[in-house]
Amino acid sequence: MASEVPGGSRKRKLVLSCCCLVSALALAACGDERSDDPGSVTPGLERDAVLGPFLAAHWTLPVLPQGAPPEGFSTAEASLDPATCGACHPEQYAQWSGSLHAAAYSPGLAGQLIEGGLAHPLQVRNCQRCHAPLAEQQPFDAALRPNAALDVGLRAQGLICAGCHVRGYRTLGPPRRADAGPQAEPLPHGGFEIRGEYLESRFCAECHQFFDDAGVNGKPIENTFWEWAQSPQAAAGRQCQDCHMPDRAHLWRGIHDREMVRQAVEIELFPAKPGGDGVGASLVLQNRDVGHAFPTYITPRVFLEIYQADAEGAELPDTLVAGTIGREVDLARGEEIFDTRVLPGESVRLDYELPRAAGARELVARVRVEPDYHYRGVFAQLLETLSDSRARELIGEAARRAAASAYVLEEIRQPLGGGD
Ligand code: HEC
Ligand code: HEC
Ligand code: HEC
Ligand code: HEC
Ligand code: HEC
Repeated sequence: MASEVPGGSRKRKLVLSCCCLVSALALAACGDERSDDPGSVTPGLERDAVLGPFLAAHWTLPVLPQGAPPEGFSTAEASLDPATCGACHPEQYAQWSGSLHAAAYSPGLAGQLIEGGLAHPLQVRNCQRCHAPLAEQQPFDAALRPNAALDVGLRAQGLICAGCHVRGYRTLGPPRRADAGPQAEPLPHGGFEIRGEYLESRFCAECHQFFDDAGVNGKPIENTFWEWAQSPQAAAGRQCQDCHMPDRAHLWRGIHDREMVRQAVEIELFPAKPGGDGVGASLVLQNRDVGHAFPTYITPRVFLEIYQADAEGAELPDTLVAGTIGREVDLARGEEIFDTRVLPGESVRLDYELPRAAGARELVARVRVEPDYHYRGVFAQLLETLSDSRARELIGEAARRAAASAYVLEEIRQPLGGGD
């Protein structure tokens, strides 16, 4: 007997109805039912057309060397170090310091650039394009020779202020705030060039969208900009910055942040009345205000779980039903295994219907998030093959961090009443 999702929620389009699966199984089959799948209409998104001439040049990665500082620049003005920017822009510096952009030169990246195929200079430059993009952060120059201008301190700081704001020692930024006070005279760092593109989603696209890429099953592996472009949020004019940099905050909170995720998804548990002595319910998760697929990358996993618990709240054996939200791709074979991600406005549902277990006192519905699910597998595999001790140390640290980033997004406990 199918569980009903009652009343108010009926208007929602429930694209996935997860079959009762005892044990954690992916909701593979349901993925094909979508007609408005973003990937199926991706016409090999063309980079320069999306970015426009200014951003197409701005995001030449790695960024070209800054060159010699203009005459008259102080030591502070000639510095690319975020802490120096921070002396005059303390708020942005404090926020950025805790962000994933500041952590982009991570152990998981660095550990892969020491040994094996990715240690090749060409690959190092390629991997650092998005993670540590300045020429001054590259160990190899464009001719793939050791880079005399490398600043190891800058390299370790990942996606730094200058990566987004400084080109050839010119500072660029968004239009000044309407309520900004009078401007200092003369302005440090030779003033700044105002560019409206800083307020637009396409500013972020170079690193968060693969262009000119047919992808797997018609969808690029990184497709965030395109998913956003087709969302109701985009239609309403809301850009990446409006959600990820509210009031211009340099925080970029995403799936690693429970609060960020929680305020954007709706989670409800609906009771259902199965026949006999059965226990029934439906757990519904709606992407209420994520401006792209939830989640957007192939790397996270979200698990919907329902089980029966005893008087102590402990899970009873053989009562778990689970479904997986995510996109599983066999990168080596170029095959999509499943895509159960939730598009903006849509919902998924996990139905539960099992006999009541002996000693069951409550039904527990849980939504768990593993932001680094994919990388846990990658790091475990690397630890089996790497021999360099520094590389092993870094990947070991990355594996610990990836395991520690998992969290419970929501837990709902419903008493079953009665008892035996
Ligand atoms: C000596 C102090 C000082 C240093 C060092 C400094 N800035 Fe500035 N910056 C300023 C001032 C003052 C302004 C003008 C603010 C205004 O418009 O009122 C400014 C403006 C800007 C703007 C434009 C803001 C807007 O409204 O669009 C950006 C972006 C910026 N700085 C980035 C940086 C970065 C990145 C660094 C480091 C590489 C840096 N600054 C270093 C003082 C400094
Ligand atoms: C087009 C931009 C881009 C390029 C090029 C790129 N990355 Fe990333 N990388 C990202 C983004 C965005 C994320 C965060 C999203 C995610 O977790 O998938 C990320 C996440 C990661 C992570 C997990 C988070 C962390 O820092 O531990 C690792 C490891 C990583 N990348 C390694 C690499 C390696 C190795 C290469 C080169 C083969 C590379 N990246 C090239 C954009 C890029
Ligand atoms: C990933 C790119 C990126 C990085 C890294 C970055 N910024 Fe920004 N910054 C932006 C964007 C985009 C805006 C405009 C956001 C908006 O208006 O919604 C902005 C705005 C600003 C402004 C204007 C703020 C205001 O309130 O008017 C300043 C100043 C600034 N950034 C300085 C910095 C400093 C200093 C750092 C490093 C500590 C930094 N930025 C790192 C992208 C970046
Ligand atoms: C130069 C490349 C680059 C640009 C430009 C860029 N990002 Fe990122 N972003 C990255 C990388 C790399 C990571 C992953 C860092 C890591 O974990 O190693 C990341 C991480 C993030 C995350 C955190 C995701 C999570 O896993 O929780 C968010 C959110 C994000 N970026 C939003 C933005 C937005 C919004 C913009 C535009 C204002 C932007 N980014 C511009 C490279 C970039
Ligand atoms: C309407 C608000 C909204 C808009 C617009 C939006 N995002 Fe997000 N984004 C979120 C929320 C909420 C999350 C956390 C849930 C999730 O991971 O899907 C998130 C997560 C992310 C992540 C984490 C990685 C992952 O797999 O989910 C990245 C990276 C990201 N956004 C980048 C972007 C970029 C780039 C844009 C613009 C092209 C953008 N976002 C537009 C709300 C938004």
